[in-house]
Amino acid sequence: MTPGVKATLRHTVAPADCADAIGSGGVRVLSTPHLIALMERAAMAAAAPHLLPGETTVGTRVEVEHLEACPPGVEVVAEAKLREVDGRRLRFDVAVTAGERVLGRGRHERFVVERERFLTRLKEKWPADGGPPTGRL
Ligand SMILES: CC(C)(COP(=O)(O)OP(=O)(O)OC[C@H]1O[C@@H](n2cnc3c(N)ncnc32)[C@H](O)[C@@H]1OP(=O)(O)O)[C@@H](O)C(=O)NCCC(=O)NCCS
Repeated sequence: MTPGVKATLRHTVAPADCADAIGSGGVRVLSTPHLIALMERAAMAAAAPHLLPGETTVGTRVEVEHLEACPPGVEVVAEAKLREVDGRRLRFDVAVTAGERVLGRGRHERFVVERERFLTRLKEKWPADGGPPTGRL
């Protein structure tokens, strides 16, 4: 995994991606959580070809500006470029654009994990019996 690896993905904004649909806002425009999800998907895609078998990445940090509103029906492009590798920590520059417009940009960090080890630790921390409450948020 070396700095410079990147990935781009295209997505047409759907009503279900909008703030009024998920309660993160009261207007029908691309929600900030979905903007971030597109950035995460691009970063995950950039890293994926460079992982060992059994490895995956998990998102650990997001620092993003949401700069411009975008209605449903618009095709947007999410881009992620690896800026720095610090052990298992991968730091990406991320952006979502629509044509010339920069809808959002920022930095995103992912952590390379061995999937099975990650799931084993998860089970240890959240045992099925007597674990933390499973109620609603
Ligand atoms: C990423 C995360 C596992 C790091 O956990 P952590 O507690 O900081 O890690 P630890 O201190 O236990 O790590 C100790 C060592 O094990 C390594 N490690 C931890 N989990 C690992 C895993 N599953 N696979 C491989 N190595 C792992 C670390 O690199 C570290 O190695 P080092 O001593 O050489 O630096 C944790 O912050 C996390 O689970 N965050 C939430 C991620 C998430 O759920 N995202 C949303 C879904 S994508």
